[in-house]
Amino acid sequence: MLDAQKTIHLADYQPFTHLVERVELTFRLAPGATRVLAQLHLAPNPARPGRHPLRLDGEGLRLVACAVAGQAVAPALDDSGLTIAPEDLPEGPFLLETEVEIAPEANTALEGLYMSKGMYCTQCEAEGFRKITYYLDRPDVMSRFRVRIESDLPVLLSNGNPTANGQGWAEWDDPWPKPAYLFALVAGDLRAHSADFTTASGRKVALNIWVRPGDEDRCAYAMDSLIRSMRWDEEVYGREYDLDVFNIVAVDDFNMGAMENKGLNIFNSRYVLASPETATDDDYARIEAIIAHEYFHNWTGNRITCRDWFQLCLKEGLTVFRDHQFSGDMRSAAVRRIEEVVALRARQFREDAGPLAHPVRPESFVEINNFYTATVYEKGSEVIAMLKTLVGDQGYKRALDLYFDRHDGDAATIEDWLNVFEDATGRDLSQFKLWYSQAGTPRLQVAEDWQDGVYTLTFTQSTPPTPGQPEKAPRVIPINVGLLNPNGDEVVPTIMLEMTQERQSFRFQGLAARPVPSILRGFSAPVVLEREAPPEERAFLLAHDTDPFNKWEAGRALAKDVMAAMVLQDAPPSPAWLDAVAAVAFDGGLDPAFRALCLRLPAEDDMAQTIHAMGRIPDPARIHSARRAMAGALAIRLGEGLVQLCRDLDDGAEFSPSAEQAGRRALRLAALALLARRDGGKLAAEAFAGARSMTEEIGALAALLDVGQGAAELQVFADRWGGDANVMDKWFALQLALAEPGEAAELTERLTARADFDWKNPNRFRSVVGALAANHAGFHHLSGRGYRVVADWLLKLDPLNPQTAARVSTAFETWPRYDAARRKLAQAELERILAAPDLSGDLREMAGRMLA
Ligand code: PHE
Ligand code: ZN
Repeated sequence: MLDAQKTIHLADYQPFTHLVERVELTFRLAPGATRVLAQLHLAPNPARPGRHPLRLDGEGLRLVACAVAGQAVAPALDDSGLTIAPEDLPEGPFLLETEVEIAPEANTALEGLYMSKGMYCTQCEAEGFRKITYYLDRPDVMSRFRVRIESDLPVLLSNGNPTANGQGWAEWDDPWPKPAYLFALVAGDLRAHSADFTTASGRKVALNIWVRPGDEDRCAYAMDSLIRSMRWDEEVYGREYDLDVFNIVAVDDFNMGAMENKGLNIFNSRYVLASPETATDDDYARIEAIIAHEYFHNWTGNRITCRDWFQLCLKEGLTVFRDHQFSGDMRSAAVRRIEEVVALRARQFREDAGPLAHPVRPESFVEINNFYTATVYEKGSEVIAMLKTLVGDQGYKRALDLYFDRHDGDAATIEDWLNVFEDATGRDLSQFKLWYSQAGTPRLQVAEDWQDGVYTLTFTQSTPPTPGQPEKAPRVIPINVGLLNPNGDEVVPTIMLEMTQERQSFRFQGLAARPVPSILRGFSAPVVLEREAPPEERAFLLAHDTDPFNKWEAGRALAKDVMAAMVLQDAPPSPAWLDAVAAVAFDGGLDPAFRALCLRLPAEDDMAQTIHAMGRIPDPARIHSARRAMAGALAIRLGEGLVQLCRDLDDGAEFSPSAEQAGRRALRLAALALLARRDGGKLAAEAFAGARSMTEEIGALAALLDVGQGAAELQVFADRWGGDANVMDKWFALQLALAEPGEAAELTERLTARADFDWKNPNRFRSVVGALAANHAGFHHLSGRGYRVVADWLLKLDPLNPQTAARVSTAFETWPRYDAARRKLAQAELERILAAPDLSGDLREMAGRMLA
């Protein structure tokens, strides 16, 4: 297709011509031919005076009947909707009735109404409702929905409260006006894991987690997380739940993680189901965070929604920020913060540094599904964290109270959001707003000066060009700093330096000796700190910094210095680094989870990003061998102490998913992986055989595969878990994560030939094709086979599920950082994708942006 794609611009926003006062929907469910009857109570919107045609969105619908005020009309139909001429519409409010037919069983895109293993479910965000019925499918059109479902399936669910049901039907009423993207319907043979919750004001809420028969006993942790989320939102934000029931449904076929539909959250089953035998500690932590995230959307997203999709970060940035706060309160806040920053750098800094860079609030898009990005979500959250640092905890609380007060029931904008902060705190946020409009990660350079007892820090900020934004203005950057004296005592506890200029100095007086600075504590801004420091200083901070984030960061910076020297100068692993890591690894006074994080080496892709930022071309093969060599050297340096560590940490206690136990398991498995480099995997094989949890089972298997062992264990694992798709996804992904660079593409071909490679299932597709793309040295192998295999699969998936194909395609976003040979190979694959006949708009936009 050669027609130009339609770009939508923020600047073109206009309120809709009509309002929807009420919606009544009837679903007659059948896999091949579902009938949807819609009654829309419409009225002209006073904000758009004059007489307008009525334009409704609709895709892939077969219109059976259409009537205005009881009279049949023949609207003009096209590919994306229908139009009724003004002369066919009464002047005041009127009723529009439509009947359409759709085929949920033929819906492979998993958007709209579709089927997953015999159950009906929906996904409407962002623009899926238009695949269910003709509607005003935009978030600023909010309405009350009543739904009737007709089906012989035993469980029939929709939004809001149940009002009536009988044999073969059920009715639901949602009292809260909502945009269509929050609509949901589920029908299936499901079982509930149920509990009750009493809100702070005494309202009783029935909680249900709906799963396929047999999975009921894997819901306890999700339920516990839900109850803790509900309590936390009352205690910390003063927000109560507002319906009589809260339903969660787990589905196996889902494009994303989960969805916050009003009163009826729908989850990818991997983020609900957990038992010690099937879920890892990371799975538990993710379930807790995602359950909380979706629940928190009830206020930040549902009660206050977005005016248009450009405002997506209004709900997503804030809700991620809230789920981070929650996880920090439930677990070790320090460990969580480190993990957040690792993920931010791996996904968002990477995005910001490549051809897909865009502002937290983009100004134009072609396909909105392509903007559910790390920038909108994770950087959106970091921007709020900075706001909170700038206005203080009290200011933040006042602003949020005002936000809920002023905007409850609204479809709001980023301007509304910033206004509540200005009104609640008296601060001018016009410069701060640049964080929403400028893409790219600012670089922060630091110069120090020490003279006559005065210590001066001078910062310089700059942001590299990003697509469409060659120049950037200086931003407000909150820089949390502490100073240590040479003994390691803190002489200036954390203070916030507020940088607003391109270049700015801050002075500290009354110091007896030249201090060691600890800069950007807690990662107080999403910037790249460019500060060269001698290894002794990094080791000093790793040993003495009182800020846990910066303590870890010092070790991370040291490890990156070492790895960069190995890759670029053939240097050996530095003894200073080895000693510093050993000191932390064996320090029983430190949290085991923290020690485990310090033992983790920088990821290869992260290292490539760093080397690229240094102005050099990263060589994936060299990075891979350097990282291996570092692990080998560490294993030798830590020596027999590792055996003792493994023993001490294995206390035989009964399994609990607590952060405390998870931290001990993480440290033990990190030690086990290093030991495998010394004993060829003997202890890891024993640990696999004696594993009492999935964390241990998969951790031991990883340690084995990493040293070229584990073939027998892989088979044992597959025999044991062949019937469990969520567990088998780990089996697929792990092998690809640890495959040798020259073998990854071939392994992918072998795994995709298996009968259980159900490529239409997004989880399975990601755990194989996505995992190959995430194997840095394998994907970027000079043979070009990694690129080719991924491109082949994207082209195969695209006609069925464009959304998932487009998301996985971001694997290619880093191509400009590599050498000419790799660039040429990757570009050729992107061009091949772009040239494919009938390519989806989703994938076309992505490939086009990556090549631009
Ligand atoms: N709104 C969902 C969330 O953030 C994510 C999502 C987007 C899910 C689009 C499905 C489709 O929790
Ligand atoms: Zn969200």
